[in-house]
Amino acid sequence: MTIGADYSRQGERATGPLTVLGLETSCDETAASVVRLTPDGEATVLSSVVHSQIDDHAAYGGVVPEIAARSHVEMIGEVTRRAMAEAGLAYHGLDGVAATAGPGLVGGVMVGLSFGKAVALARDLPLIAVNHLEGHAVSARLGEKVDYPFLLLLVSGGHCQLLEVRGIGDMSRLGTTIDDAAGEAFDKIAKALGLGYPGGPALEKLAATGDGSRFDLPRALLGRKDCDFSFSGLKTAASRLAQTCETDQQKADLADAVQSAIARQLGERSDRAMKAYAEDHDHRLFVVAGGVAANRTVRSTLEAVASKNGFAFLAPPMAYCTDNAAMIALAGAERLQQGLTSDIDVAARPRWPLDEARALSDPAHKPGRKGAKA
Ligand code: KG4
Ligand code: ZN
Repeated sequence: MTIGADYSRQGERATGPLTVLGLETSCDETAASVVRLTPDGEATVLSSVVHSQIDDHAAYGGVVPEIAARSHVEMIGEVTRRAMAEAGLAYHGLDGVAATAGPGLVGGVMVGLSFGKAVALARDLPLIAVNHLEGHAVSARLGEKVDYPFLLLLVSGGHCQLLEVRGIGDMSRLGTTIDDAAGEAFDKIAKALGLGYPGGPALEKLAATGDGSRFDLPRALLGRKDCDFSFSGLKTAASRLAQTCETDQQKADLADAVQSAIARQLGERSDRAMKAYAEDHDHRLFVVAGGVAANRTVRSTLEAVASKNGFAFLAPPMAYCTDNAAMIALAGAERLQQGLTSDIDVAARPRWPLDEARALSDPAHKPGRKGAKA
């Protein structure tokens, strides 16, 4: 496996179960969780506490970084105390502390990472800096035992990527968005429809009462052979149409059309990725993770595409689709299992591509998004 610049091998592979405290503060959830991982990959969530800041940001229609960082400072101690209490553990019962070190709103990331460093120093525990995306990538393993490798669609508010996941820290990207992430499109269109924040769940609820068949929304990147995504054309077209909706029924119809269009594009690109992946993999498992994986239409569309291509389909339990700390604790435990830990001076990073090793060694393989918004 690839050891990224942020890890060093401090010890041998662990032979017994590991219990890790995870901390997540990269966006608008302050979360702490304790997860136990056995050597054969069985994960048990002993506690998972998530404090959502939705009420703090609702008036502004989106996450305000300064408000988020302050709220994380206020909540991280209490959220961690609750996670330890619900797990029934004292700090000496832990084997390590994992904290999200990026990518995300760096003011918030610094809060969780600094808190994690303080716990690690005070309790003499190893620290594992975790890439938030790697947390989403392993999140399906919280629900049941899942073996590597698998094909992953990571679809959240900030990211939309197809990845071949061979193991922790060993992933390569098959496709990414050239402009917006799918969750971003859900959120912005929901805002144009006058729905609250976060937009994805609100739009899904409204779409349930609509019929989008009369709308003809733009379909991006048709005819291209790659696995990239584009949602900005859809976002602009739907936001304009939202201004013309006069009744609640019209809004519901548009919401249904938008949800179907996003699900369809996710399905089309995943279909291409499955066909490429199947060429050199006999074990065919497709996993969808990230906040948008909570959407039922998205799930059922992807499940149908997977079944058509002979892939088993898996999505994390709903609670582990959106941001949480159990996925961070698990990613940390998987690294710790391999003896990989971080230095206490590891920095918080606003950007941190998942397939960093490839990005560094292959200049043609640019990390993160492609296109104008990269
Ligand atoms: O993974 P996540 O909690 O945070 C990021 O890492 O971005 O994902 C949040 C995103 C938001 O854009 C939110 O609107 C979207 O996931 N989302 C949904 C649903 N639940 C959350 N989108 C569509 N339908 C949902 N039910
Ligand atoms: Zn996330």
